[in-house]
Formats: sequence, C-alpha cells, structure tokens
Amino acid sequence: MHEINLLIPGPTPLPPTVLQAMNRPMTNHRGPLFGRIMAETLAGLHDVFITRNDIIPLVCSGTGGLEASIVNFLSAGDRVLSVNNGHFCERYAEIAERYGARVDRVSAEWGRHVPPAAIADRLGADVKREYRAVLVTQSETSTGVHNDVATVRAVLGDHPALLMVDAISSLGAIPLRTDDWRVDVVITGSQKALMSPPGMAFLSVSDRAWAAAERSTTPRYYFDLRRGRTEVHAPIPSTPFTSAITVGYAVHEALRLIREEGLEHVFGRHRRMARMVRAGVRGMGLEMVVEEAHAVLTHARERYGVLFGRGIGRLQPTVVRIGHLGYTQPEMLLSGLEVLGGTLRDLGHPVSAEAGLAAARRELHHVHDDDLTADVARRRGVR
Ligand SMILES: Cc1ncc(COP(=O)(O)O)c(C=O)c1O
Repeated sequence: MHEINLLIPGPTPLPPTVLQAMNRPMTNHRGPLFGRIMAETLAGLHDVFITRNDIIPLVCSGTGGLEASIVNFLSAGDRVLSVNNGHFCERYAEIAERYGARVDRVSAEWGRHVPPAAIADRLGADVKREYRAVLVTQSETSTGVHNDVATVRAVLGDHPALLMVDAISSLGAIPLRTDDWRVDVVITGSQKALMSPPGMAFLSVSDRAWAAAERSTTPRYYFDLRRGRTEVHAPIPSTPFTSAITVGYAVHEALRLIREEGLEHVFGRHRRMARMVRAGVRGMGLEMVVEEAHAVLTHARERYGVLFGRGIGRLQPTVVRIGHLGYTQPEMLLSGLEVLGGTLRDLGHPVSAEAGLAAARRELHHVHDDDLTADVARRRGVR
C-alpha cells in the first residue's frame, strides 16, 4: 500500500501540527478554554478575510454556509443576479431558487470568464434596482476559473444589491479583500486553504447584510446568523449550538501557521503551485485530458496511491482535477505530475512526462514580478 498523496481540491492535506492539535481532549464548548481558542480563531479569520466585519462560525460544510447566506439575507420573490460559469456557481443559484428567489443568470461557458460588460448590461437594465444580491463564486472549483470579485464590485458601482461571494475554495489561497472591495457576505469552509478537516463554515457579514437579515422573511433556525452574532460577541465566544470542537482546534492551529508564514506569502505560494501544475500539464503536451478520466483516476489511485479530483457534472468523463490548496507541498505535486505521466503511459496514451516535469520544476524556481515584495518591485521598476 502506497502512502496516499492527496491531490484533490479539498479536503486537503493537514500540516503535522494541525493533526497534533486535534489530539487534544474534548472540552466544554462554552467554557473558558474553548472560548479563548474561539476568540483567537476569530481574530485569525479577520486577518484572512481581510475584514472588520463580523465573522460567524457554523458547524456544517461549505454548502451549509451558502444556504445560511440565502436564508438570512434574501426573501422569497427577491430578484438575484448569478454570475454563472460552473458547477458551484450553479449550486449557489439553485439554493437561492429553492428558497423562492427569482434568479437571473449572466453566464459563460464552463471554463470561461463571464465578461464584465455582460454583468454591467444586466445591472444597467435593472433600472428599478430590484436586484437584492449578486452571487459570485471566486474560485470555480469545477473548472479552476478565478472569477474577479474586485471587477464585479467595480461594475456594481452604487447599485444597492448585496455582493455575496462563495470563497469556499479560494479564501486563504487567493486574495479576497473583503473590506476594500466592499463584499457584503463571504463564505468559506474549513477543509480547503484553511488546512483543516471538513466540518465548519465561516461567513463574514457587512452591516448592510445585517440590515437585510432584519428584513428577510425566510424562516431559519439552525442557520439564523443573528444567533451566531450574539455568540461571537459574548465574553466567552462560541457557536449557538454544540461546536465541532476538534475542527475548531485544527482551524485555530492552521490560522497560527498562516499568520507565521504571512498571508501575502501564502498567496504567493499558491500562485507558484498553480503555475507549476499548469506548466507541468502543458509541458507534457496535454491540452485537454484524455477521454477516459475515470480510468486515469482509478489507475493513479490503485497503482500509485495518488488521489486526483474527478471532473464534476458534465466534465466528469474528460477532466482530471489536480488540487494544490493549503498544505500541499511542491514535491507532492511533482510526484503527482510524474504519476499522471506514468498513468497515461500505462493506459497507452504516452505523453512527454519528462518535459512536463522539467517545465514544472522551472516554474517552481521562476520568480514572477507579482512574487516580489512591493519594495523589491519598486526597485526593479515593476508596478
Ligand atoms: C466553490 C465551492 N463551493 C461550494 C463547495 C461545496 O462545499 P462543501 O462540499 O464543503 O459543502 C465547494 C466544494 O468543493 C466549492 O469548491
């Protein structure tokens, strides 16, 4: 049995100290010990969300966080605009529809960007300013497309719709400047770039969104974020219902690691991983992955112990996803790329695996302008 090399886009590998933190015994989730952990966790989350807005922890996976944003800030009949180019954007839109929202989609083909002009057109056509929210998925995990939240904010201008962002696979991997970009609601989960097991979601909520929560007529109980707000501001912060204590220990330690490394360095590391994987795959001469993605996934897992992500929805037959979030190390990805090449060879689709690996290694050591600190960049005349 090989040691498993977990290269799926969540859950992600856990750092050793996070695993150790999870060994702590249970405690009272309303007691001072967990209260201290929760207070430090919230402080760390404020840094990663880059916000002073309230952050509300929930015990659920990311999708629960998406549902919480819909039931708290929208009512049946509300008009909503969904920036829509993949599986997870569509899920967010569907949750809104399930609760009675009237959702317009401004769409692009999966894998492509939605042109900002198309979003501007839809908003411009909303002369009565009826849209109550614009939904964006920052990293569309089904295709790897990065939707540009700052641009959506710029296009929104002074339109009063809430800007609500699914950042489940992006928060802590790519910048989301919640306050600078005036993002009203940001949702993330514990099991991606936060380097923790699945089980908790976190939402940041602006004052405008809190005002919408008072107006919303949608029934809610477990996901009533106002209860969470009371708990995070209590002298001993907690969650309204029993916390996922072990996941809480993990997130607390993971945030310590992120602070130690420095958030901008964490972003830089993720940029490097992304470039490296892309260079490796292109270097192998792979444009589109083979027709038999399922065979590739099974062979890589059974023969080499490497877990790649499967394609989602209609992309399932043709796509293999290579996760590179959180604690994923360059060596894990190099070994994953080698296994991808070996698997394709074993299955009778030889590719230039060596060329791919060489390209990935080159990319790993290449310093791009956006990797430089502001100081060094200025000295080199880079803006
Ligand atoms: C962008 C995005 N949204 C939503 C989800 C769903 O999150 P969960 O599986 O934690 O409910 C995921 C999970 O992969 C995701 O990547």
